Amino acid sequence: MQPKNQFVQLPILAEKNITLAIKREDLLHPFISGNKYRKLKYNLLAAKEQNYYTLLTFGGAYSNHIAALAFAGKERGMKTIGIIRGEELQDNWQGNPTLEQAHKNGMLFKFVSRQAYRENESAKFIAQLKQQFGDFYLVPEGGTNALAVKGCEEILVEQDAEFDVICTCVGTGGTVAGLINSSHGYQQVLGFSALKGDFLNETIGKITTKENWRLMTDYHFGGYAKVSLELIQFINQFKTVTGIPLDPIYTGKMLFGLLDMIKNDNFAKGIKILAIHTGGLQGITGMNTVLKKKNLPLLAI
Ligand SMILES: Cc1ncc(COP(=O)(O)O)c(C=O)c1O
Repeated sequence: MQPKNQFVQLPILAEKNITLAIKREDLLHPFISGNKYRKLKYNLLAAKEQNYYTLLTFGGAYSNHIAALAFAGKERGMKTIGIIRGEELQDNWQGNPTLEQAHKNGMLFKFVSRQAYRENESAKFIAQLKQQFGDFYLVPEGGTNALAVKGCEEILVEQDAEFDVICTCVGTGGTVAGLINSSHGYQQVLGFSALKGDFLNETIGKITTKENWRLMTDYHFGGYAKVSLELIQFINQFKTVTGIPLDPIYTGKMLFGLLDMIKNDNFAKGIKILAIHTGGLQGITGMNTVLKKKNLPLLAI
């Protein structure tokens, strides 16, 4: 199934004569939503072909990737193991909606310190994990590897050739790399970084050979998973006006940034923009528990 492009009507788009469509990848699957579906597709096939019965991966406490992998494993009768950042969660993860759901879907957790987590790609750490859990098919953090990029190349389809600009959110860089690979040379791909800093330029440069892309680094709202009142209000208003829900970590920041760029005349009149909705909506419930503690308004569900 290929999700539809939903054209959005907003006064600012009419004023600037810009067409904006959102590719509703969030509707691809109820639990393996958006880019997770694309990134896992070929990895799950490879795990099956190589006769693995266990999938192991890494993620933070509210990770969309952890949620998706747990469900994918359950669906295929495979064991799943999540190496979760933050040992303080060890006796304290009940009440976290992402981890509770992953647990219900059969995922086994190992909580590790932030320092140990940083080693997640080291051969020594992987060997220790194999000793503890037996053999497994390893899916890296955020699900990004060559097979994930291949899956993300399938997001764009023939009809999308009509767009001048393709936008997506960036965490590990796999999704934007797939889009760059399958974009046409005349299209510009804009990646909106969910992380502070510009180091992702180097990461993306290593996984794609084309040059028709740019990383936007001004819309992280203070860093990964940081939110502000302005962002929450924007997401809630966007949903009321367009009917499209956005998540606060990735897609909300991308749309906020994109509309800000449109307001500031960063695009020529008449241009057609396609923004990819990469999913992540499962994270809203978890974010609302954080917002409640901070006495901030909640995100509409
Ligand atoms: C909803 C959502 N959108 C975008 C991204 C960023 O994708 P990538 O890590 O491939 O850059 C992620 C994280 O993987 C995500 O969960």
